[in-house]
Amino acid sequence: MYHDKLDKFPEGFLWGAASAAYQIEGGWDVDGKGPSIWDQFTKIPGKTFQGTNGDIAVDHYHRYKEDVRLMAEMGLKAYRFSVAWSRILPSGKGEVNEKGLLFYENLIDELKRYDIEPVLTLYHWDIPQALQDEYQGWESREVIDDFDHYARILFERFKDKVKYWVSFNEQNVFTALGYRWEAHPPNIADVKRMFEANHIINLANAKAINSFHELVPNGMIGPSFGYGPMYSLDCEPNNVLAALNGEEFQNHWWLDVYVNGKYPKVTFKQLEKLGVAPSIKDGDLELLQSAKPDFLGVNYYHGGTVRANEIEFPLQESEADLEKDFQATDPYLMQPKEEQAQSPEKRMFANVSNPHLEKTKWGWEIDPIGIRIALRRLQNRYHLPMMVTENGLGAYDHLTEQRTIEDDYRINYLKEHIVEIQKALTDGVELLGYCAWSFTDLLSWLNGYQKRYGFVYIDRDEQDEKELERIPKKSYYWYKKLIETNGNLV
Ligand code: BG6
Repeated sequence: MYHDKLDKFPEGFLWGAASAAYQIEGGWDVDGKGPSIWDQFTKIPGKTFQGTNGDIAVDHYHRYKEDVRLMAEMGLKAYRFSVAWSRILPSGKGEVNEKGLLFYENLIDELKRYDIEPVLTLYHWDIPQALQDEYQGWESREVIDDFDHYARILFERFKDKVKYWVSFNEQNVFTALGYRWEAHPPNIADVKRMFEANHIINLANAKAINSFHELVPNGMIGPSFGYGPMYSLDCEPNNVLAALNGEEFQNHWWLDVYVNGKYPKVTFKQLEKLGVAPSIKDGDLELLQSAKPDFLGVNYYHGGTVRANEIEFPLQESEADLEKDFQATDPYLMQPKEEQAQSPEKRMFANVSNPHLEKTKWGWEIDPIGIRIALRRLQNRYHLPMMVTENGLGAYDHLTEQRTIEDDYRINYLKEHIVEIQKALTDGVELLGYCAWSFTDLLSWLNGYQKRYGFVYIDRDEQDEKELERIPKKSYYWYKKLIETNGNLV
């Protein structure tokens, strides 16, 4: 630590919390909503923890007023939520479902009544099933105009009420889990199709950002990227090179396109050699370069550690345990049934566990300093303001006999990360706000309701929705104080 004293968080810093439609709303088929790919996927036996789905979730659709009142009592300054595309356009395009729009309008009005800044995410993983059935969703270029049409409806309707907008949530995660690891819908294991779909999503993102700048000139829009800084296992130069490759393959591959409209060269060449590079058509790069985000949303949970690639540098005995440990615990390393013939990483880097870091019960590394490193790297490379749009701890919580939740572990986790953010601010990083994941407990896509993140406990489990009672946890009161002191409590 090289500062004598940390800077204060700036006036108006957006202390917030986040959620996503499918994970909280429920009401999956009410008021004209059409099904999304998640409504269908979660019904396939064996895909989610104990067959859980978001049919009811935490019933935010019917209880949003109660939830916003709890936000207001906490003093929350910002609330990030996503819109379910298939509530607005049940079949993905065509006629608008006014009842769906009205739900979000009421939510936004309710937030504003308490001076809570809405942060609206256009896409948090739930494309309408109708578009998946009609033309395979993100794999067809037809989706670019359909997504733009959907986005423009929201821009027109909410341009005077919502200033901060997120275009895509964690494009890196939903493309990998959906098209490569067969873990999310549309349940595909094909690297080439992943890179093709990803390119089409980049084009959809660019087009919608351009529409935004035309329709909402005073607003700010950006993607929320799932960023994890890549570390080298040690200072052996081949490992350092591997970390450079990892950073480019896992992060710059998306971020360089968002900000500069260019794919990183080294990775692109690797993908071309393997025959899995995306097909770039005339006009694509011009579109990508024409759209500039106004800020970067950063979702931070953990980074990654790598060593030299396995092809040229077979694993050392001393490294074998770290690799095994990584494979045993990292939830995103979901190998498809058969080894993928064209696994680009194999030639670029190999993942290992970081021997210096503890893990959560779900195997996610806990690395508060990583968030400072993340913000510093992103600031220097992209020169955009940032907003932490997700950060939090998934844990088992215990409801005591007195019906309290003593989640000191969550308080410690958040405190440690927020201190590192304050250091990053003191270093010179420009940050608009911090949205913890999540406000209430919610459905963890693949892990049911037992993996909890919220400040507010929801009394339900996998088998029984009970009364869905809302119970503020100890961390709720801690965050309330933190907000009151504009972050100076920590
Ligand atoms: C992020 C997503 O990847 O991580 C959230 O944007 C998600 O939607 C969060 O819930 C935590 O992931 P998980 O798998 O623990 O629910």
